[in-house]
Amino acid sequence: MDILCMAKAQSRFVCQECGAILSKWVGQCEICKAWNSVIEEIDQMGITKQNEHIPDDFFVTLSDDSVETEESLIIGRRQTQIEELNRVIGGGIVDGSIILLGGPPGIGKSTLLLQVLTEMDGSSEFVYISAEESVNQVLLRARRLNISNNQLKIAASSNIHQIISSLHGLPKSSIVIIDSIQTILSDLIQSPPGSISQVRFCTQELVNFAKKNDVTIIIVGHITKDGAIAGPKTLEHMVDCVLYFEGDRSYDYRILRCEKNRFGPTDEIGVFSMTGHGLEEVANPSAAFLSGHNSEVSGVAVFAGIEGTRPILSEIQALVSHTNIAIPRRSSVGFDTNRLIMLVAVLSNRCKLNLSNKEVYLNVAGGLRINEPAADLAVMASIISSSMQKPLPKGSVFFGEVSLSGEIRPSHLSYARCKEAQKLGFKEIYCSHKTEDFDKSSDLEIRKLKMIREVISSVMN
Ligand code: TYD
Ligand code: MG
Repeated sequence: MDILCMAKAQSRFVCQECGAILSKWVGQCEICKAWNSVIEEIDQMGITKQNEHIPDDFFVTLSDDSVETEESLIIGRRQTQIEELNRVIGGGIVDGSIILLGGPPGIGKSTLLLQVLTEMDGSSEFVYISAEESVNQVLLRARRLNISNNQLKIAASSNIHQIISSLHGLPKSSIVIIDSIQTILSDLIQSPPGSISQVRFCTQELVNFAKKNDVTIIIVGHITKDGAIAGPKTLEHMVDCVLYFEGDRSYDYRILRCEKNRFGPTDEIGVFSMTGHGLEEVANPSAAFLSGHNSEVSGVAVFAGIEGTRPILSEIQALVSHTNIAIPRRSSVGFDTNRLIMLVAVLSNRCKLNLSNKEVYLNVAGGLRINEPAADLAVMASIISSSMQKPLPKGSVFFGEVSLSGEIRPSHLSYARCKEAQKLGFKEIYCSHKTEDFDKSSDLEIRKLKMIREVISSVMN
């Protein structure tokens, strides 16, 4: 036997907290410093035989017509009954894809997925496998949600091998839901359910099955305290599409966001509200996020944002209060805190607004999370308004990025932002001096600003 091509199966030591691979067992992981998290695994890598069978169609060329290309895959998308979900995943579920749905416990993942299984056209089947709830509990919930689907099968199992065996024979384009990946396990792996080794192994089994049988599998993943899907980045690499279902449980609104998508864009969001009979799509998110908006109060600015291709208006609230602490706090919910610190520095330096003995708190109403730099102007306007204890002009909307020099820069899709503001009855738009003109005939006033200090000198007067 050729000794050189037969490497020995070796042990490796994997940290169950962070996924680090170590050469020897240690009580404390060298990378994440977690105690007792390192477990021995048999490293299967490097034991490939050289005489593995290679099929004739192993390699293909670009001119090969027999291979399904991305375009034909897009035609093979299945529309679900939930429009918001269809939009977030790029127009529908691609057959044979693996989707990971992450979110904190109790946000509504199981509810959403059960609602996805409402009857669709075609001869495919729908399977819901719960490893968290009993069949009775799932049935009760499905009945309460008025799910009507004669092709829906429900099972409760936590054994990955039993699950995969039960899926054999499913017709093409069927949809399988696994709820959740942290509670299923394989008895071939020694570590407990939810550990990195188990989560990775079970996901890999499901990925292999889905690709081989052209069945779509949607996997539910819980989010750990620090916001990562347990079994960190490894899971995200293995699947085609990563969706996050987020929002504060105390708010009615739930936001579905796409983090990774091999078959479509990642910047769309879907908005739902949790009601007594399940999740309902929110057709007009701007109106929803502004409900209860009160323009008579200081520290409140309305931001015209864009999520994907859709304009969404939201309310940004700031509170500036006096403090004797040497380093005053800057804290934000729904907006990047580092960016807030930077904007406060720009305000202090370019507007001569003294915030050195003031705490600054920022909140985006309704549980929305804003990632756009175009929110800078609205954030700064709300801080100015709160520190001067004077409301911003009634019916005003803001958008524009603010540079370190204090200049207000234009944002993309300004026409769509203005249009949405007009639709909701706003009267004035404050934006960059470089913003293109809006409809001349409309009664919407476009007020163009060059520098951030103009918010104090002209807007607040
Ligand atoms: P669930 O889908 O079980 O959350 P997850 O799977 O993400 O843990 O949703 C649970 C929450 O949703 C729970 O707090 C109750 C609420 N809920 C409703 O308000 N209305 C409903 O019709 C349903 C099914 C759940
Ligand atoms: Mg659940």
